[in-house]
Amino acid sequence: MIVAPSILSADFGNLQESFKKVKSAEWLHVDVMDGHFVPNISIGPVVIKGFRSYTSQVLDTHLMISDPEKYIKEFVAAGSDRITFHIETVEDPYNIIKQLRELNVCVGVSVKPGTSVDMVKELIPLIDQVLVMSVEPGFGGQKFIPSALDKISEISELRKLWNPELLIVVDGGINETTGKQCKDAGADVLVAGSYVFGSDNPEERIRSLQWNVKL
Ligand code: DX5
Ligand code: ZN
Repeated sequence: MIVAPSILSADFGNLQESFKKVKSAEWLHVDVMDGHFVPNISIGPVVIKGFRSYTSQVLDTHLMISDPEKYIKEFVAAGSDRITFHIETVEDPYNIIKQLRELNVCVGVSVKPGTSVDMVKELIPLIDQVLVMSVEPGFGGQKFIPSALDKISEISELRKLWNPELLIVVDGGINETTGKQCKDAGADVLVAGSYVFGSDNPEERIRSLQWNVKL
């Protein structure tokens, strides 16, 4: 299981310290919000460039923005290793996938809680990850929406045939209980913000989501 702490819940007054607390994580999840696709504003490429200078961990950038095509070059140049866009924000997903491939980053597509897996089904052979939102995108600290589990199982079945390498990422309301449910449904990556950074011991929280690692 890959655990990706969500930087949104880190201490933005002392980011270097926050990064030190999650050193054991393979990935870091970076939430980009534009105040248009979601009712919140977070960070852009300039800040991601700063993150890149602190760490060599995988930067998994989650674009919760309208018109992602306009900005992908900047997000790649800033140092993102993986870029996920929302299916709800693009008219031609094939075009943006092609552009991301040309920029040499891993490609992800995300679905909001109300969006059906059918919307991304045909893209499965072309991408590296599907990010299933298990809360409404926009804020950390929300409650896990259980219908995400059915989506994970559905994608898990589809990938067998079309892309066994596909990673299933789950984002929102992850803790030890919901994380285990996601794992059992077929998830490979758990994004966790408040659960990890809300603890005095973030490393312990990360380990608690890796059932193959001894506590
Ligand atoms: C929400 C973001 C999440 C968020 C998760 O829109 O995409 O990555 O930071 O936070 P928690 O784990 O607190 O739900
Ligand atoms: Zn996210």
